[in-house]
Amino acid sequence: MELPSDALLAQIINAASDAIICVDQRQQITFFNDGAAHIFGYDAPEVIGEKLDRLIPARFHAAHRSHVRNFAHSPVPARRMAERSRVTGLRKDGSEFAAEASISKVMSDNGPLYAVILRDVSDERAAAHSNERLLVEMQRAVRARDDLLGLVSHDLRNPVNAVRMLAGAILRSAAEGEALPPHVAEHASVMQQAASQMDALIQDLLDVTRIEAGRLLMAPQPMASALLVAGALETMRPIAESRGLRLSSKVEPGTPPVMADPDRITQVFSNLIGNALRFSPDGEEVWIEAHVAAPLVTFSVHDRGAGITPEELPFVFDRFWQAKRTNRSGAGLGLSICRGIVHALGGQIWIVSDVGKGTVVSFTLPMAGEEPTA
Ligand SMILES: Nc1ncnc2c1ncn2[C@@H]1O[C@H](COP(=O)(O)OP(=O)(O)OP(=O)(O)O)[C@@H](O)[C@H]1O
Ligand SMILES: [Mg+2]
Repeated sequence: MELPSDALLAQIINAASDAIICVDQRQQITFFNDGAAHIFGYDAPEVIGEKLDRLIPARFHAAHRSHVRNFAHSPVPARRMAERSRVTGLRKDGSEFAAEASISKVMSDNGPLYAVILRDVSDERAAAHSNERLLVEMQRAVRARDDLLGLVSHDLRNPVNAVRMLAGAILRSAAEGEALPPHVAEHASVMQQAASQMDALIQDLLDVTRIEAGRLLMAPQPMASALLVAGALETMRPIAESRGLRLSSKVEPGTPPVMADPDRITQVFSNLIGNALRFSPDGEEVWIEAHVAAPLVTFSVHDRGAGITPEELPFVFDRFWQAKRTNRSGAGLGLSICRGIVHALGGQIWIVSDVGKGTVVSFTLPMAGEEPTA
């Protein structure tokens, strides 16, 4: 390999963006490259022959001199940047900046010389500081929002349940033949329904907060897949029948049991089937399929409803997201909660949809006895 000529080396050193400064034994500057001129704001002739102290804030002079003395007497030929702590530089205009410096000892004909290579890191530091500050502020805002959401949801449940129970008591009196003013039973029924809706929404908000905070508790246990599906159908049948929709299932024979929290999986199925029913035309069919794909079991909810456009599909799992043109009941929390529950149980959830043809929402659960994959 051919070594570069002295002239070429000089060019390389001069063009380096780092400051390269040489000082002699008396700490007088003997070399000052273009990088140093750029960083410190001096032209080379202004500082050649001057003490290195010119480039260091006064309060660091004593410490710096003792550093150099120690280094002069140490057998270590060079210290690299990583071995040195950050230093502070002083520009011609009096401003200071954070820098990273390395120093090496070189023997010349006139005795030892010290070569300092220094990099201005004030921009990096400022950027890192402002990023850290932003991150802390963001985390604080998210925590405050979640705390508020949790608190409000929790404290709303009691009064809402009181309304629901009292409306139920009025309805029971009416059913038992008590004479009530006209419309009271009708109003009580509306109140009860509204309070139930409110309670469901509060539950969802609480779940979302728990998922966000990673505090969604699961009690997985081995559950027969066919039983989970049958339970889900039974829960949702009254809603389907009220709309004249058929509800059915196709569980592949031999589908093994899964690890599931039964209440939470009922919640997943209720939302998925609820969505499927809501977006299906009257008289249509909604069905659940289940089959094994070891070590997982895949469950899917099928409808022949309106479908979801490819543009909307990426957003359906976002909290509070609902397609604009669709039937706007609910809060847009169901799918994000389903995803939180399925993930917490070690499964995955996804949607395939064809506009005008229908939608299939599938999720997996680990087979009982298998380690969760997520
Ligand atoms: N089976 C489906 N067919 C067509 N669109 C659907 C289907 N399931 C979900 N979507 C679309 O995704 C949106 C989000 O669904 P998600 O279950 O999260 O909320 P929601 O049902 O609107 O309200 P919530 O579940 O909180 O009561 C729905 O509003 C709808 O636009
Ligand atoms: Mg829903």
